[in-house]
Amino acid sequence: MIEILNPNQVALARETGALVGEILQTMKSRSVVGTNLLDIDRWTKEMILGAGAESCYVDYAPSFGSGPFGHYICTGVNDAVLHGRPHDYTLADGDLLSLDLAILLGGIAADSAISFVVGETKPAESVALIDATERALAAGIEAAGPGVKMGDISHAIGSVLTGAGYKVNTEFGGHGIGSTMHQDPHVSNNGRKGRGYALRPGLLLALEPWVMADTDKLITDTDGWTLKSSTGCRTAHSEHTIAVTDDGVEILTLAR
Ligand code: MF3
Ligand code: CO
Repeated sequence: MIEILNPNQVALARETGALVGEILQTMKSRSVVGTNLLDIDRWTKEMILGAGAESCYVDYAPSFGSGPFGHYICTGVNDAVLHGRPHDYTLADGDLLSLDLAILLGGIAADSAISFVVGETKPAESVALIDATERALAAGIEAAGPGVKMGDISHAIGSVLTGAGYKVNTEFGGHGIGSTMHQDPHVSNNGRKGRGYALRPGLLLALEPWVMADTDKLITDTDGWTLKSSTGCRTAHSEHTIAVTDDGVEILTLAR
């Protein structure tokens, strides 16, 4: 089902989105050499509950994972790209960290992800991966608006990723979002212009390009959740929740 939010619900989504953005930026600033992924998870839990919000992840048990996720944020280091389950790992200089967070506040969810390099050493390959996902996300947002087709967004995202020299895996992509985190329509990270559902004001979409340096094949970690590149190469992921408005879109998951 595709959920269209009324203006009051969009106003609530703004609050959820701003909180997601604030938590992610706080966790980025605390993700330094020596920080443990379990600390990031605990701090995230404290911020979510402290704000009177709810985690979309902790009890989430979809078919693509193994049992409830059990944590409050996804932490993907280097080859881990999606659904990274926090574990006892201490961040090192040059690690590429992806943080992905979805919460519910006032009955409306928002979902966002950021990738960045920890510490002083910024490997060129990692910088390029992050840059490609950020540019793809910006292109997807730029393409979106009322009347635009889903395929137009997918094409905009996919063109940036392939143009940067990466293969695109379309097993996981963006999604509608609203009173729950994962809704229709699916937003493929590659596609053809003019295809699919036409966007309407009040639709919330999570756009989330992700990429792996030298492969489009994923493997699942022994933790049953974390998806990694099959070759061990580095990976990146960028995501925002946007609202389709009468005359364009609004990005909801920026920190205020
Ligand atoms: N937020 C992810 C997405 O972008 C989903 C993570 S599910 C989890 O769609 F359970 F792994 F957290
Ligand atoms: Co998402």
